[in-house]
Amino acid sequence: MIRRKDRVCPVEMAGALDIGIRKCFQNPEKILSPLIRTGMTVLDFGCGPGFFTLAMARLVGPSGKVIAADLQDGMLDIVRNKVRGLDIENRVLFHQCPENALDVREKVDFVLAFYIMHEHPDPTSVFKEVAAILNPGGCILIVEPPFHVSRKAFAKTVNDAESQGFALAGSPRVFMGMTAMMKR
Ligand SMILES: C[S@@+](CC[C@H](N)C(=O)[O-])C[C@H]1O[C@@H](n2cnc3c(N)ncnc32)[C@H](O)[C@@H]1O
Repeated sequence: MIRRKDRVCPVEMAGALDIGIRKCFQNPEKILSPLIRTGMTVLDFGCGPGFFTLAMARLVGPSGKVIAADLQDGMLDIVRNKVRGLDIENRVLFHQCPENALDVREKVDFVLAFYIMHEHPDPTSVFKEVAAILNPGGCILIVEPPFHVSRKAFAKTVNDAESQGFALAGSPRVFMGMTAMMKR
């Protein structure tokens, strides 16, 4: 079912997602290091200003890749500027998504969907696309903000993923996050 999108976080709000103190309660390395290994290709779906993208690039190492994907080119520009000149620059690929789809063709080992699914107009089609590009054993970690998303709405998102062949494989603890790790 296609949901009406509530709102898309504007580029002007990017700074709020990127404040230093966020690392104290949502440490990207701590959240992602159990899930990302050297050499993986990983997707940061709805990457925003790249709060998680840079940590993902460090975790995949020089032989891995991160696809930073977002609807808004303004968000991607922020990430482009952040990685420019860093040793991780060549590991980060940029992808601007159309509004209703993911449209990534590359096979990936892990997908992060942090605070994005409630903004997406068609989660079911995203999960269908993710199912098609995930390598065997891969997973998607969905994290939604409890201050914007009700438990019922979160359960519906998990249901949408299940309708595309995913099963709940865990629920890692994230401060200010309802989480679902989904595997095929
Ligand atoms: C609340 S921000 C979260 C950013 C980042 N994941 C974080 O946690 O810092 C949501 C992001 O999802 C992006 N987004 C919203 N709808 C999207 C869509 N249909 N396709 C791709 N990205 C989308 C927005 O542009 C925004 O950058």
